[in-house]
Amino acid sequence: MSITAEETDIIKTILAHTQAGTTDMQPDMMRNPVTTYTDPDILAQEVEVLFRKFPIIMGHSEQLDGPASYFTNDELGVPILITRNNDGVVKAFMNVCRHRGARLTEGPCGTAKTFSCPYHKWTYDLNGNLRGLPHAAGFGDIDKKALGLVELPAFERFGLIWVRPSADGEPLDIDAWLAPMAEQLAGLDIEGHTVFKSWSLDRKMNWHLALEGFQESYHFCGAHEHTACSAYLDNQCVWTDKYPHVRHSVALPTVVDLKDQPESDWTARPYFLTQNYIFPCNYVQVQTDHIYIHTIIPTGVDTCIFKCMMLIPEAPKTEKAERYWQKNYDVIRTVFNEDFEIGESIQKGLDTGANSEFLFGRYEVGLHLGTKAIHDALEGRLRP
Ligand code: FES
Ligand SMILES: [Fe+2]
Repeated sequence: MSITAEETDIIKTILAHTQAGTTDMQPDMMRNPVTTYTDPDILAQEVEVLFRKFPIIMGHSEQLDGPASYFTNDELGVPILITRNNDGVVKAFMNVCRHRGARLTEGPCGTAKTFSCPYHKWTYDLNGNLRGLPHAAGFGDIDKKALGLVELPAFERFGLIWVRPSADGEPLDIDAWLAPMAEQLAGLDIEGHTVFKSWSLDRKMNWHLALEGFQESYHFCGAHEHTACSAYLDNQCVWTDKYPHVRHSVALPTVVDLKDQPESDWTARPYFLTQNYIFPCNYVQVQTDHIYIHTIIPTGVDTCIFKCMMLIPEAPKTEKAERYWQKNYDVIRTVFNEDFEIGESIQKGLDTGANSEFLFGRYEVGLHLGTKAIHDALEGRLRP
């Protein structure tokens, strides 16, 4: 197992923290207005900017299993059709017919060489081209090329499918966008993993509250007192600013064993839970032997979708392996549920007026970095 220079630095930093009884900190506390979680105008602006201009993870490569496969996605409020064409390239389109707007395919997934609209049977191929229409004479000599499906920027990188849910805007350079995370993501072999479970939850809380649950580990020994608390160092972790993304390394207590080992023998993965925030709403959460991909999407000012995939290195071949991964899955569902129950309780308390702002402590570093990046995007300083 190889280690990167960044990971060596992370280990050195956490070992220093364990010796000194310290952790990574921001220079100052931050105050976040409660309207962030309640104001419909703020949400409308966030949807328009964060959830239209930036790439969102839509799935794992395995979900487009070979040419002529597809799946649909409606979670962002935009009907999206995602295909793998005959050359194996991932494409995304508005799932909207160019004749009179019917939804082209119900999905949710399958294989198809063409998509035929249920209304009048205009037919499109996997590249979105309009291939045929019944009784074409009624449309004179229309330019079929101009009536292809509206394409959305779509990319397959690091075993994941990324889509920008808007056709408007500048071309998106996904490699430049993901560059700060690329070394780590490339080392995970996400494309070699298989989806063990995927699930989607409607939760009654503003999307920020779900997001923030993964941006600090200060809460582990509160919210996860009987689950995650004992598995990690308490409120001692390392943050690597990958603006606008963030790498959050939460160490297992066994990390101190590395102190007695020569640096040349160090490995990082067995000693950390790594929560990677990928702006604006994506997480790649790396456990010691498997990976979770989360996406958090607002559906209202006080509701959101939490979507998760559990990825494992290979499909279980034995009952023992199946049980092992199932147990991991059961634990994570319990832990995430602890986060969401707290998040929903916060949402219920917002209207009491008890707080006009929330305090982000100096060691809740991910909240600082994530919130700053979101403000930068909303105020036009950050573009993909
Ligand atoms: S709306 Fe699709 S063919 Fe008419
Ligand atoms: Fe949590």
